Amino acid sequence: MTKDMHDTESATRRNFIKAGVAAGVGALLSPLIVKTAQAAAEAAPAVAAAAAPAANDKPKLKIGDVLRVAREKLYPICRVCPECDGVACAGEVPGMGGIGSGQAFKNNYNALNRIDLVMRTFHDVKKPDLGTTLFGHKLSMPVTSAVTGGVTYNMGGKMTEEEYVTAILGGCMDAGTLGWVADGIGDKMDVFERRIAVLKEKFGGNAIVTIKPKTNDEIIKRFRMVEEAGGIAVAIDIDSAGRAARAVPGQTVEPKTPRQLAELAKSTKLPFIIKGIMTVEEAKIAVDVGARGIAVSNHGGRVLDYTPATATVLPAIADAVKGKAVILVDGAVRRGQDVLKYLAMGADVCLCGRPLVRGAHGAGRDGVALMMHIIKDELTVAMTLTGVASVKNVPANVITKGQA
Ligand SMILES: Cc1cc2nc3c(=O)[nH]c(=O)nc-3n(C[C@H](O)[C@H](O)[C@H](O)COP(=O)(O)O)c2cc1C
Repeated sequence: MTKDMHDTESATRRNFIKAGVAAGVGALLSPLIVKTAQAAAEAAPAVAAAAAPAANDKPKLKIGDVLRVAREKLYPICRVCPECDGVACAGEVPGMGGIGSGQAFKNNYNALNRIDLVMRTFHDVKKPDLGTTLFGHKLSMPVTSAVTGGVTYNMGGKMTEEEYVTAILGGCMDAGTLGWVADGIGDKMDVFERRIAVLKEKFGGNAIVTIKPKTNDEIIKRFRMVEEAGGIAVAIDIDSAGRAARAVPGQTVEPKTPRQLAELAKSTKLPFIIKGIMTVEEAKIAVDVGARGIAVSNHGGRVLDYTPATATVLPAIADAVKGKAVILVDGAVRRGQDVLKYLAMGADVCLCGRPLVRGAHGAGRDGVALMMHIIKDELTVAMTLTGVASVKNVPANVITKGQA
């Protein structure tokens, strides 16, 4: 598709969605949302039940309701499109989109879409095992939240920091997995402190905390706070290094030399993850400097326009460092099938970003848990119908070049 065609598509999508809001009913969009909701509900009858606490009177959550409320709260920052593919929000950073042309975000989505799953049904995989561990922490499936920060400047300020962190960490915990805590580039120290307080007081430290690539002294100061809160691991999103213009005055973000990265890895007893790896060379260096995990990520297409999709670079990176560090990946994880695709390419754990922002705004902690349960159910079905017994051993021949 040419750039002109993309621009036209973006504009059409924006106008289409705006018209729905102007009509005051979401009438144009809601059938699509309901259709998505119905498909999910039909494919996963256990999902809604699983999302609602067993023995209380809370009504069972419906995905259509969660998305409707999310859209009311997030519009126009996020249109809650039927497909979260980076088209309508292209260029909206700060916001929910991809930077510039939005191509890097679209690349993530399109590359995954171009991969199909190979259906195999002559086997005895009746109950696939989704369980795994991340730095010794048990996960119900190989999916955690991604790191999403900036409730005010990225998401429109409809939730407080405390509400948002509680929704992400609580929803992930309720789904048997883990959430990540962010360190927004425009956030002052007190915002970070509030997040860490929620992490410690409400969740006993059960999360991974990402710090911006500030000076090493600033980072190490924050590592100590995470250690004190009982955090599971620390990360830096090194790919934020180009965003100096948005750093708060008096602070800086910067690329790091291998020596500086080694200093960070050594400075903490917690597992150290480098997020934003897009080449084999840097994956190998990350291992050499002592990173226990790498996150293959282009930051959801939000930092450098025209970066390739993570699905494009992941297989070679996994070939080079599989088993030497935990391989995390993010970028357009929308469904359980996407998770299976990334595992087949060599990832150990996938991170899910924008869908959980919608879940959090649609129904707080329960909304996030519902999103996670849907992904889990889809992954279960996908593994059953491809004959994959365990997420810890997903053969590469589960995926094939698709028709899209
Ligand atoms: C609103 C928003 C805020 C984000 N904030 C951060 C952040 O503070 N730190 C970070 O490492 N990544 C951040 N990211 C990037 C995500 O961690 C992740 O790489 C990306 O969103 C994954 O793609 P997906 O949203 O398509 O699933 C943010 C993404 C979004 C959409």
